[in-house]
Amino acid sequence: MRTIIEPFRIKSVEPLRHSTAAEREQYLEQAGYNLFGIEARHILIDLLTDSGTSAMSTEQWAAVMRGDESYAGSESFFRLKRVADELTGFRHMIPTHQGRAAERILFTVMCKPGNIVPNNTHFDTTRANIEFTGARAVDLPIPEAADTQARLDFKGNLDVAALESLIAVEGPGKIPLVIVTVTNNSGGGQPVSMANLEAVQRVCARHGIPLYLDACRFAENAWFIHEREAGYGSWSPKQIAQKMFSLADGCTFSAKKDAFANIGGFLSTNDDRLAQQETNLLILTEGFPTYGGLAGRDLDAIAVGLEEVLDPDYLRYRIASTGYLGRHIADHGVPIVEPPGGHAIYIDAARMLPHIPPPQFPGQALAVELYRHAGIRSVEIGSVMFGEAARHELLRLAIPRRVYTQSHIDYVVEAILEVNARKQEIRGLEIVEEPPFLRHFSARFRQL
Ligand code: F0G
Repeated sequence: MRTIIEPFRIKSVEPLRHSTAAEREQYLEQAGYNLFGIEARHILIDLLTDSGTSAMSTEQWAAVMRGDESYAGSESFFRLKRVADELTGFRHMIPTHQGRAAERILFTVMCKPGNIVPNNTHFDTTRANIEFTGARAVDLPIPEAADTQARLDFKGNLDVAALESLIAVEGPGKIPLVIVTVTNNSGGGQPVSMANLEAVQRVCARHGIPLYLDACRFAENAWFIHEREAGYGSWSPKQIAQKMFSLADGCTFSAKKDAFANIGGFLSTNDDRLAQQETNLLILTEGFPTYGGLAGRDLDAIAVGLEEVLDPDYLRYRIASTGYLGRHIADHGVPIVEPPGGHAIYIDAARMLPHIPPPQFPGQALAVELYRHAGIRSVEIGSVMFGEAARHELLRLAIPRRVYTQSHIDYVVEAILEVNARKQEIRGLEIVEEPPFLRHFSARFRQL
């Protein structure tokens, strides 16, 4: 059989509510044309993020009931630790309430003013947490990634030559760690190859610089390696993931992505001295080291999710379903970041709407139009989010895990193609109110 089906059936359902075009116009006006300001009950299909929005399995809900809520030494912690240890091989696993808490602790311990932290592409919280310590976050994507239309198997790779010259110019003493983000979210959800990880690891080892993974979407990355990289076709996703982790000295992890959890994360390291400092900080802001800001039941849900996500049937379906959305819109003329990523499809709004210049926010204009037309929520990743530093004007359609079926995605495809058919009518926006930082969450707009 060629048809790839959702490898689950549905036991508990949540109703979706339709709204009228007039209602959506009113919600848009009230929210200042910023989709973050719209109440979730007024959204039909929510593709704002794949973070914390997964559907948990029956086994995860059963694990939730087993959660041990002891303040110290909870059994839930040891269940998670066993799973994480087997998967990552790192000596220390420090639970945190989500990925950015792990980032804050890691960079507080490792970075000083004047330091530089390279990454294939920093996620915005990663960059913000690095820069908060006075260090500088530097993106080193491969040059081909700048072309949204280039179809590369591993377009998320880090530019190893650029890393070498950065180290040569700045000196290894200024670089406390190198990070590789798998998959590369800000770079279009594109995977990183094992060969690239190995090359980065060799450079880091030669200069004595620790290598960390931002491992939020490690399983999706492992599946791409299984499918695309020579020599890994017969490896299981778990074996591939284990090898990816074995190349690093530690990781940050948001369990809100590939662990199917609604909250949670962890910070791992092989360095005993760092782990001690990190644990001290953890106690200050997150909690005791065996719960780190989470309930015992959350730790158990993560432990089960970490194993479920490596099921080849799930990963085959997951990557195929994201590709399905990408191919169906791209083959009908909507320019996307090629090839489709693991967790999201990114529409190149600058290419789709050449009549709207970047200062009039083509990605935001498209997000507004898609909501207006069909009640779909997406997110701009372009000039609204990054200001003049934006390299592209993208609209991200992130797919929550195990939440929507193929008919929901067919609806999204139809909506996008209908909007594309009359794209000349879409107008740009202007900002009328904005906060001093992270403006995309709360800026208000006016239609031009
Ligand atoms: N690193 C990456 C690559 C991420 O995508 C995220 C979150 C984080 C770190 C931070 O993790 O949210 O648990 O604190 N990405 C979400 C998104 C928010 O929509 O892409 P967190």
